[in-house]
Amino acid sequence: MGKEVKRIGVLTSGGDAPGMNAVIRAVVRCGIFNGIEVYGVKKGYNGLINGDMELMEARSVGEILQKGGTILQTARCKEFKEEAGVIKAVEAARAKGLDGLVVVGGDGSFRGARDLCRHGLPSIAIPGTIDNDIACSEYTIGYDTCLSTVIDAVDKLRDTSSSHERCSVVEVMGRNAGYIAVEAAISCGAEVVLVPEFEYDFTRDVVDVIKKGIARGKKHCIVIVAEGVGGAFKIAEKIEAETGMESRATVLGHVQRGGSPTVQDRVIASRMGAKAVELLLEGKENRVICVQEGKIVDVDIEEGLSMTKHLSHELMGLVRKLSV
Ligand code: ADP
Ligand code: F6P
Repeated sequence: MGKEVKRIGVLTSGGDAPGMNAVIRAVVRCGIFNGIEVYGVKKGYNGLINGDMELMEARSVGEILQKGGTILQTARCKEFKEEAGVIKAVEAARAKGLDGLVVVGGDGSFRGARDLCRHGLPSIAIPGTIDNDIACSEYTIGYDTCLSTVIDAVDKLRDTSSSHERCSVVEVMGRNAGYIAVEAAISCGAEVVLVPEFEYDFTRDVVDVIKKGIARGKKHCIVIVAEGVGGAFKIAEKIEAETGMESRATVLGHVQRGGSPTVQDRVIASRMGAKAVELLLEGKENRVICVQEGKIVDVDIEEGLSMTKHLSHELMGLVRKLSV
């Protein structure tokens, strides 16, 4: 039987994602519901190292459920990547009387949570990133909201592309993953999608597809490029030169990280936050909370980090089929 859990912390780390506030709210309120104290740790692992944290009340997380970003703020903390930084963080957490910690972030943040466990601070990780690139989970908090933002932008770009009979090349985020790109392409009816997971031949997969579309009567087209492929401006230039269709490039950028979370993000974030508190109260640690086969489950962080996730061929093929 481990030490009784009386006080826990919650922090957000890495790139922010819509729905992080819903996790913070769930952790605080489920903690209070179970009679424990919850501290909000500021600016990711920086706040842990510096002891920058404060006691959260039920009311201090009021009216944050619908807000994008993270009220605790987030950071990338170099010092924490070194063992000395982790030890400093564990000591600071002990000084504040923390018996456990909930970390919301991507796989970098999970490595941090694992290191905290190794040094004696029981931690639970929750996947919060717009990229949906966490192998052990079918879903990451923020992805659905991000896609809504992308769809809204691409629909608007389609209006102007149609008016001007242009090709619109849109670069979306995703780091090394193409999930945002491919699901945006399906949702927006893009003619072409380029992702880092699949090699492509520019003539066959871009130029010929656009030319065939023109031959079938298409007057404009949408090309989605994942940031892992990059080069939207160059791609637009080449499309214009090789197809004769006037082209423009748009890099959507950080607008994709903001905004009020969708219902899916609010619900999954709330459920994951609640589950994290439950696990800590049961004396569990070093677990990452995931969606698997539609259920909220937890797996060992190390095991989760060792898994691989594959972008579906079928989804890529669907983009092509639906754009005939
Ligand atoms: P994400 O969590 O979104 O993948 P990062 O990779 O930037 O974002 O990681 C967020 C933070 O997690 C880093 O700033 C660092 O403090 C911590 N971190 C990242 N990688 C490691 C690692 N290998 N070991 C320990 N901590 C790490
Ligand atoms: O991981 C989320 C993400 O937005 C990626 O899609 C992107 O590659 C990266 O973060 C951008 O990071 P930064 O906010 O440091 O520019």
